[in-house]
Amino acid sequence: MPGGAAKKPWGGRFRKPTDAQTETFTESASYDRVLYRHDIAGSMAHATMLAHVGLIGQSEKDAIVKGLSDILAEMEAGRFVFRCAYEDIHMNVEKALEEKIGDLAGKLHTARSRNDQIAVDERLWLRDELDSIRRSIALAQAALVELADKHADDVMPGYTHLQRAQPVTVGHYLLAFVEMLQRDYERLGDCRKRVNILPLGACALAGTSLPIDRQYVARLLDFEDVTRNSMDSTADRDYLLEYAFCMTACSLHLSRLAEDFVLMATTEFGFISIDEAFCTGSSIMPQKKNPDIFELIRGKTGRSVALLTHLITLTKGLPLTYNRDMQEDKELLFDATRQFRNCLDILPALLRHVSFNRERLLKACEDGFMDATALAEHLVRKGIPFRQAHHVVGKLVRLAEERGCTLAQLHVGDRKAAHALLTEDARAFLGARNAVGFYASLGSANPKFVRREIEAWKVRLRDEGAIPGKGKRRRKG
Ligand code: ARG
Repeated sequence: MPGGAAKKPWGGRFRKPTDAQTETFTESASYDRVLYRHDIAGSMAHATMLAHVGLIGQSEKDAIVKGLSDILAEMEAGRFVFRCAYEDIHMNVEKALEEKIGDLAGKLHTARSRNDQIAVDERLWLRDELDSIRRSIALAQAALVELADKHADDVMPGYTHLQRAQPVTVGHYLLAFVEMLQRDYERLGDCRKRVNILPLGACALAGTSLPIDRQYVARLLDFEDVTRNSMDSTADRDYLLEYAFCMTACSLHLSRLAEDFVLMATTEFGFISIDEAFCTGSSIMPQKKNPDIFELIRGKTGRSVALLTHLITLTKGLPLTYNRDMQEDKELLFDATRQFRNCLDILPALLRHVSFNRERLLKACEDGFMDATALAEHLVRKGIPFRQAHHVVGKLVRLAEERGCTLAQLHVGDRKAAHALLTEDARAFLGARNAVGFYASLGSANPKFVRREIEAWKVRLRDEGAIPGKGKRRRKG
């Protein structure tokens, strides 16, 4: 729609129509339209409250709500024409309502401003997103647990500094990510508590002289409570900031998983192979099979980080209360969230098409003297101070390296020469399989513990509905 042709709500004060370029520059309707369901839900609740306190009549409320649900139906069907000349989602809905029910539509904006309206829209939208993101996290955890279950006993090299360090089990390795995702799940749930507070009724910034009932609106929209300060309600976006951090933390976890899997899929490592239906090839090199999904998961992390730094930069130094800068919170928010959800949602299927190469992993455990710590701990059990044991085994590693053999392959005489207490029984602690079997601390890679953890995760994820079957706890709702 050309500039100025649309009647503006602020038309009373302005003599001139809006300049066309100004209209294009300032609009947000082209992207904030994704909030339409939440905008309409907020308006319906607001109208219901206005009737409840007598600011509008019951039949007026009925006409407004009916008009709004017709608009919602048109939007759902893709028949609604959004107009940038109406600036944003809020004005598009209000103008459409006016076309349907005439001047009565003007009563909807009683005791309300777009400043508290956008805050409630965002909180409602985010609440829904948080719920589906958390469901997706639980499903990704379920897929990891399923894979861990398959490989609970299989040994693999554990790394520090990307150098072979100590043997672990594949199950244990995979459960590390399940733990990380659990904290993300909880963090996002915690974030939801602060998102789920109603700002509506703050109006532009100061509240209103009209007798509104904010608690009533909160109940209608299923908010836990109402905000306590009208200026804070319209000025702050920390609910988005907190969410952006939680999303970034989770994205980073996904990115580290992706990086590991990319490495493990290389010819050099050869620890995993990814089903070719989940890989792509090269347009020039006929032999290529690339782990693109993992690479893209790693790459898309940038968008969450971008959102976080963007929101920090955007709100730093903004004077209280609302400033138009805040309209800029949305595009990256929607984009980063969509991409983040795509990453989470492809993970279960992808993980079900990854296979670990048991033999190759076992073989990799034979090189690198990863049982050295186990041997040192064996000496500690015989009363040798750890620092001394470390030194003794270090010398044996040097000897084995010179001879081109493993610690287990050294002659028992060589071990005894290094320390008299390294008798025949030391053999039982050598080799990756033996070493993992002797881990005894809580949270270690011993397959016995890993199995127990897997069972605990299954119960928990069944409770969340992420694994089929009956959980122990009855789920709400
Ligand atoms: N489109 C605006 C935003 O996203 C809505 C609030 C507008 N308020 C205003 N006074 N112009 O922030």
